[in-house]
Amino acid sequence: MENRAEAEQQHVEKNNDLVPLLTPYKMGTFNLSHRIVLAPLTRQRSYDNVPQPHAILYYSQRTTKGGFLITEATGVSDTAQGYTNTPGIWTKEQVEAWKPIVDAVHAKGGIFFCQLYHVGRVSNKGFQPNGQAPISCTDKPLTQIRSNGIDVAQFTPPRRLRTDEIPQIVNDFRLAARNAIEAGFDGVEIHGAHGYLTDQFMKDQVNDRTDHYGGSLENRCRFALEIVEAVATEIGAHRLGIRLSPFADFMESGDSNPKTLGLYMVESLNKYGILYCHMVEPRMRIVEDKSECPHSLLPMRKAFSGTFLAAGGYNREQGNQAVADEGHADLVVYGRLFLANPDLPKRFELDAPLNKYNRETFYTSDPVIGYTDYPFLEATC
Ligand SMILES: Cc1cc2nc3c(=O)[nH]c(=O)nc-3n(C[C@H](O)[C@H](O)[C@H](O)COP(=O)(O)O)c2cc1C
Repeated sequence: MENRAEAEQQHVEKNNDLVPLLTPYKMGTFNLSHRIVLAPLTRQRSYDNVPQPHAILYYSQRTTKGGFLITEATGVSDTAQGYTNTPGIWTKEQVEAWKPIVDAVHAKGGIFFCQLYHVGRVSNKGFQPNGQAPISCTDKPLTQIRSNGIDVAQFTPPRRLRTDEIPQIVNDFRLAARNAIEAGFDGVEIHGAHGYLTDQFMKDQVNDRTDHYGGSLENRCRFALEIVEAVATEIGAHRLGIRLSPFADFMESGDSNPKTLGLYMVESLNKYGILYCHMVEPRMRIVEDKSECPHSLLPMRKAFSGTFLAAGGYNREQGNQAVADEGHADLVVYGRLFLANPDLPKRFELDAPLNKYNRETFYTSDPVIGYTDYPFLEATC
């Protein structure tokens, strides 16, 4: 019996050599046992912006010893929200509510970062304090109507932030990062992707400012970099990452020169020595749809001196390739596959079949259905 267990162990170890995604990686001070990262995934089950006890099971199901997880986008202030039932981390109650979730991930040996965001103009007055207009770098409204299958909402034209108001928003990120550390998180990821506030500032399709936060590339990136600097000073660059999607034009937030933007950002980030840069593949022009694309993240990966995470449209084979081909990424981030397969690393190890994800329940508020009821491998065979 013992011999059989030993043989199985040897088989797994041998197999792992052949599965680049399952090789260990040292990300700064964090010893990761594999390269498969849980993507930030908004699930809209945090009633009244407070994380709920059902998230304990959801995140711990997706935790492995030495695995790296990123939370769903989490609001930094009461003006940061734009979707129902998304969590925040600006109140004491929210911080307390995160604690048991973080503890559960730590109890299983996971490394857990909190993704911090502000939606900017991707909101409407119903989400804003006193029904005020959402804030942005611009007063240009989004022309589309938002529909993620759950919420359908008209966007309210945003109010352009005055120059002297911007330090307050930067400060909200700093305080939220401090709160995240108080909640027990190992670090934070600034959401600089997908057309939310930080991205609105960076992209020339949106940013039409004439002060020193608009116009030149340097000016457009100033807001993001001020947040990076403030958060790095508050909690340390060694536990700070950022997510960027220079090539995406989700939420009408595109840029006329995404490669230059991406390169400028990573080169600037190098100066702060942050832990990681998490980039969304150019093929993900919008968040959930893959398309053919001639661009590559390689120039950014090469220019960045920290850990590089790549996300978007990856399956097992492409993930292995990205890691094996050292040039591409240190870690690979999985969204929909991890959402539907709580034991994704195990399944990749065994090259087992995957559960299919169900879009219909991505954003429904049920605490179980489509959330914690995706079966584990043992349950399916
Ligand atoms: C249900 C759902 C929610 C998402 N929420 C977030 C989010 O909160 N923050 C974020 O940066 N990206 C979010 N994304 C994008 C994912 O992190 C990921 O980049 C995208 O799903 C593409 O990766 P995939 O092909 O592995 O799913 C979300 C995607 C989905 C499907």
